[in-house]
Amino acid sequence: MYKVAVIPGDGTGEEIIKEGVKVLDAAARKYGFSIEWVWYPWGADHYLKTGELLPDSAIEEMKEMDAIYLGAVGDPRVPPGILEKEILLKLRFELDLYVNLRPIKLLPGVPTPLKDKGPEHINFYVVRENTEDFYVGLGDRWKGSRRETSFDLKRNLYRAKIDVSVNIEPDDEYAFQIGVNSRKGCERIIRYAFELAKKKGLNKVTAVDKANVLTNVYSLWRDVFEKVGSEYPDIEKEYAFVDAITMWMVKTPENYRVIVTPNMFGDIITDLGAMIQGGLGLAAGGNINPGNVSMFEPIHGSAPKYKGTGKANPLATIMAGAMLLEHIGEDEAAKAVETAVGKALVEGRIKTYDLGGETKTWEVGDILVKMIEEG
Ligand code: IPM
Ligand code: MN
Repeated sequence: MYKVAVIPGDGTGEEIIKEGVKVLDAAARKYGFSIEWVWYPWGADHYLKTGELLPDSAIEEMKEMDAIYLGAVGDPRVPPGILEKEILLKLRFELDLYVNLRPIKLLPGVPTPLKDKGPEHINFYVVRENTEDFYVGLGDRWKGSRRETSFDLKRNLYRAKIDVSVNIEPDDEYAFQIGVNSRKGCERIIRYAFELAKKKGLNKVTAVDKANVLTNVYSLWRDVFEKVGSEYPDIEKEYAFVDAITMWMVKTPENYRVIVTPNMFGDIITDLGAMIQGGLGLAAGGNINPGNVSMFEPIHGSAPKYKGTGKANPLATIMAGAMLLEHIGEDEAAKAVETAVGKALVEGRIKTYDLGGETKTWEVGDILVKMIEEG
């Protein structure tokens, strides 16, 4: 018996997560375990009604769970940044979910916009750092008189106080945002990437950065990549600047095995990755703290305009559910979900709107449940 927190979130979040729950329950029944789902209301509706985003007590509650299953957050009724920062990023930071693992895998039967590329070309992992970089939330906008401030940055890895002062003319305005990377933070994510390569039998790790311009944050990143990489003599090491890799991921995706990237570049290149694997409707991810409670979600947003239309593709959420099962140690059940999804796509049993068909969101789970039961 596992206990999993479910946070459907906003927009289409609830309808996609319901399909995921159906499918995971079917896999659990088949492999002789069960999941107690604990539903949480956090998101735009709850915020607009109560003023509450994610209470601090929730963090403690989450630590008692075996995993967290998240739909999507974001709603046009709330200014950008509030729900994202106070719910999604708060969970990532407070639970120290330092790995954002995003497999980029084109499944057979799924069309890719890349000409002449197939499943044999598009199959790698992006390991995105998830707690540092330009996501630490350090920055401000200053007009006229405001000239200095200090930030107290509290993280699981460190505590930093950063003083900033700028001389501003009365009629001028400044905005700044500071990225912070620590040696420990770089080390643990880069090590995770090499360990993943080793575990999966993959022979190359590519490090993404912009060390030719952002020379401070990313020279530290490179130093650590050299050091950690030297412990893995059998794995090839390679660097790619972030601008160049957006080009290579389109031109020669078959060259990648494991890509490790700082937080913000990882955000950007995984949307590109999602597209080449068949679209955001298929791209899953895990926010992981190895050995501890971790959170699984689709890469895509809440797509509020599709709410209730049946057009949202729940497969990304369902594949994130498979990652959840693998994380809690139910490998066979995870495989069963992946196999069912793969088969349904190849045989054309599931063709959601984004894939050019008419399968409704709420039909997807039922199709897969049947296949898992029979398979
Ligand atoms: C993602 C999303 C989030 C991010 C947003 C919603 C804060 O785009 O998970 O990729 O930037 O990490
Ligand atoms: Mn993103």
